[in-house]
Amino acid sequence: MDIYGLIGNPVGHSLSPPMHEAGYEALGLDARYVTFEPPKDGAATAVEGAADLGVAGLNVTIPFKQDVLAAVDPDPLARRIGAVNTVDFSGERPTGHNTDAVGATRALRAHDVDLSGTAVVVGAGGAGRAVAFGLADEGMAVRIANRTQSKANALAADVRGDGRESGEASADATGHGLDAVPELLADADVLVNATSVGMESEETPVPADALHGDLGVLDAVYRPLETRLLRDAAAAGATTVDGAWMLLYQGVAAFERWTGREAPVDAMDEALRGRL
Ligand code: ATR
Repeated sequence: MDIYGLIGNPVGHSLSPPMHEAGYEALGLDARYVTFEPPKDGAATAVEGAADLGVAGLNVTIPFKQDVLAAVDPDPLARRIGAVNTVDFSGERPTGHNTDAVGATRALRAHDVDLSGTAVVVGAGGAGRAVAFGLADEGMAVRIANRTQSKANALAADVRGDGRESGEASADATGHGLDAVPELLADADVLVNATSVGMESEETPVPADALHGDLGVLDAVYRPLETRLLRDAAAAGATTVDGAWMLLYQGVAAFERWTGREAPVDAMDEALRGRL
């Protein structure tokens, strides 16, 4: 039997076990997915222990996503983001990956949102970082807006790769305050809310009259699934993508890396949505 799992502290009532186990069941794989709660300074020890115990793969959540970097060989994207949410133990050394980035882009693509042109990412925390790098890697120009503008500027510089060797590809990324969002949205093709605004509240990070019908709008918030932002976006004629899709596709990407199989997306989606 293959053991997969999640480390976090608190690990809480994670939706990952039922989502992944629905995938194993649909494909007839002999595997289990369990949660572990190491001490907050225990990221490296947990990864080493998991390797020793023969764990096949680990997801990583708060507060370990940065600390785990030191215990794995990160792939280039995870290294640039500075955070790992998926560890693969199939090689000689554990490798680290960031499927939050591809979670956002696959969620948008699954709704036929074209990932070219300009994206506005609201939020510059952990989620905003992964989303901004993911969209930039698709070739989008990324406009990052954050309540604390200095964090948006710093993230934009990281996405551009300021300080890289000359000759390396550089992304188009700029940092802004939240007040710039309406103007930025006028020419934008994609909007992602990567802040916690709207979580269990009727607040929205974007004024309704700034939204328009040419946008694909992803809200990373998944409690509730139907946020005020997504209702306003739907009313404006935009394509809307709720936060469960991002959660689903980060899991799908981890599942596919670990098992080498195409994930049974519908079965995983049903298990996830049934619990939200
Ligand atoms: P996560 O890992 O989910 O991204 P985080 O790293 O704590 O969480 O980041 C939270 C994000 O939500 C940040 O961009 C934060 O803005 P600041 O950097 O200015 O703190 C944003 N955020 C949280 N509450 C907010 C609010 N009430 N209004 C606007 N932005 C908010």
